[in-house]
Amino acid sequence: MSTSFDPVAYGESTIDFYDLLYPAGEVPGIVDFIRKRVPEGSRIVELGAGTGRVAVPLAESGYAVHAVDAAPAMLKALRVKDPAGLVSVHQADFTRDVVGRDFDLCLIVKNTLFMMQSQEQQCTVLRRSAEHLGEGGLLVVETYEPSFYHALPSTHTQSSVLGANKLLIDTIQCDPVAQTLYFLRTLVTDGRKNS
Ligand SMILES: C[S@@+](CC[C@H](N)C(=O)[O-])C[C@H]1O[C@@H](n2cnc3c(N)ncnc32)[C@H](O)[C@@H]1O
Repeated sequence: MSTSFDPVAYGESTIDFYDLLYPAGEVPGIVDFIRKRVPEGSRIVELGAGTGRVAVPLAESGYAVHAVDAAPAMLKALRVKDPAGLVSVHQADFTRDVVGRDFDLCLIVKNTLFMMQSQEQQCTVLRRSAEHLGEGGLLVVETYEPSFYHALPSTHTQSSVLGANKLLIDTIQCDPVAQTLYFLRTLVTDGRKNS
């Protein structure tokens, strides 16, 4: 299946339940991981910061955090979570734009790198990351392990309960040869569908 991906539109249909998809429970572990690598006060840039799930707690932990995201819906939600304005927000395309230099750490978490639709585009993002870093700067990338998806039948459906009256249905198509994964996420809430 081929789809075109517009990063600016990301979150438009999922913003109401986005934070339920990626629970905050794993964030202290990410902050801890970073704390062991760069001291408080260090400059961190997060590419694809989304709603600030990680960027805001990092800023609250004393880091100077810059959040880069192309999607206005996601950045609007980030600003709501950060009323003190601790995070510097950049609406930009991280495949193209460099929002600053000499950062101590560049962070790409969740499935953000895998949202790039080709290996070439992933390499471009890694190059852009390097351009943000000062000498000795660190790049931290978190991704999922794709072999689980490679083992699935060509179309696979799974469901999970996100909360009272909130059922998430994921329809997944994986093409191991093309190395692509297509994820359609549908939330059914109070009998209404949001996809
Ligand atoms: C899976 S979300 C992860 C958000 C956040 N890092 C988290 O852990 O919750 C990926 C984010 O990357 C952003 N994104 C995807 N492609 C982008 C691009 N080319 N430029 C800027 N942001 C992009 C999306 O808008 C989305 O907010």
